[in-house]
Amino acid sequence: MEVSRRQALVGVAGFAAASLIGLQKTYAADGFLELTARATKVRLSGAAGPESELIGYDGQVPGPTLRFTKGQPIRIRFRNEFDQPTTVHWHGIRLVNAMDGVPGLTQDAVQPGASFDYEFIAPDAGTFWYHAHVDSWNQVARGLFGALIIGEVEPSFAPENDHVLVLTDWRLNEAGGFDAASLRSAMDWSHAGRIGNLLTVNGGIRPEISVPAGVLQRVRLINTSTARVLKLSVAGAMVAARDGQSLGEPFEMSDKFVLGPAQRVDLVVEPSQGATVELLETSGKPIVLARLVTGRLAGSADAGRLAIPDMAEPDLANAVAVKLVMQGGALGSLNGVKLAEMHAMGMPAGDAPLWAFNNVSGMGDTPLFEAKLHQTIRLDMVNETAWDHAIHLHGHHFRATSRQGIATGDPAWLDTVMIAPGEVLQVAFVADNPGDWMIHCHMLEHSVSGMDTWFRVV
Ligand code: C2O
Ligand code: CU
Repeated sequence: MEVSRRQALVGVAGFAAASLIGLQKTYAADGFLELTARATKVRLSGAAGPESELIGYDGQVPGPTLRFTKGQPIRIRFRNEFDQPTTVHWHGIRLVNAMDGVPGLTQDAVQPGASFDYEFIAPDAGTFWYHAHVDSWNQVARGLFGALIIGEVEPSFAPENDHVLVLTDWRLNEAGGFDAASLRSAMDWSHAGRIGNLLTVNGGIRPEISVPAGVLQRVRLINTSTARVLKLSVAGAMVAARDGQSLGEPFEMSDKFVLGPAQRVDLVVEPSQGATVELLETSGKPIVLARLVTGRLAGSADAGRLAIPDMAEPDLANAVAVKLVMQGGALGSLNGVKLAEMHAMGMPAGDAPLWAFNNVSGMGDTPLFEAKLHQTIRLDMVNETAWDHAIHLHGHHFRATSRQGIATGDPAWLDTVMIAPGEVLQVAFVADNPGDWMIHCHMLEHSVSGMDTWFRVV
């Protein structure tokens, strides 16, 4: 497997310098937190490797971890000091539509030199992330992402027992720098997306995190990769939350726990004295991504229970059913598919459409469906392609109610769900957030080449 070869090559090179600087957050006089996108140079393969020209929030890759408390007004003044238009999307936050950061749908893109004030309230405590939503196949691939943590009003874990690990797949060239030359590979776009050959954790390679022994640790994992589906394993870990939302009753983590692009999982694990807990990638031969090492830190014990999400339960008996058929890609067909008039988020001019939903490739001017406020929507997804997809709904969390016609009983609330080739997946949610919301594949190469649509809640 590619990852292991590259990781063997670069070895334990330590953190990229950019992850250690600029940790001081700045606030404007009116209380807005300042967040700036700008070009930055990062040594992805360690101190001995070449510098890569990336884009970072506040010049960091990943961007600074933003922390707020549930229900607190969030005010962020975003400045674009990069040379391309961009926006910020607050992935998984059920926020007011105008702050969702989708160009051409909820706001105009922020031009170079301009700024935009994001102001919203986060209704849920949990693990979220933020990222660019303009040319995300390029801007996210080059570093415009970061963790967004919404704390509970009464935290269930003390800070020393609460860890954020941002997992990112990078494609490096032979010299060990970011492989910009392959960014628009039609081969990647029509297959599994851009799959890399280096996995970083918080921008570093195989970090060791010092934790207190004998105390429950919360480990928040975020897959910010543009396309790589991670299979993870942590011995003895329990899964406490998915996509930012508590499961209520934690369950034992499986051996190859699937964490698709944009998905998050909160684990709870209790390392005993002298033990090392390894986070493994298990798609192929297991690779160590990070280690929790029990140190001399004294830890205070926490209740370790997350509050139940405050989410309206779908009323399946009275649901409005909407079909969402995935088409195209290599080995697939676009026969009869028409090209939508593109919103600003669409594919670069001149590139052929590769993917479609319901015979339409790209964002059209009419929504896929319109929902009445508080209506339960049942999305019947059918993957007619030969590839996995990571389907993301903006502004809402949903339940995956059945797969292949069989009820899942899955207690999770998701904002992004994996669907395998040939699979039929039913998800349901209450359309309780007014506005225009995207549905797209979070394999960002699929999104740009056609797997985008939207719905309206009125
Ligand atoms: Cu995480 Cu439309 O995005
Ligand atoms: Cu896809």
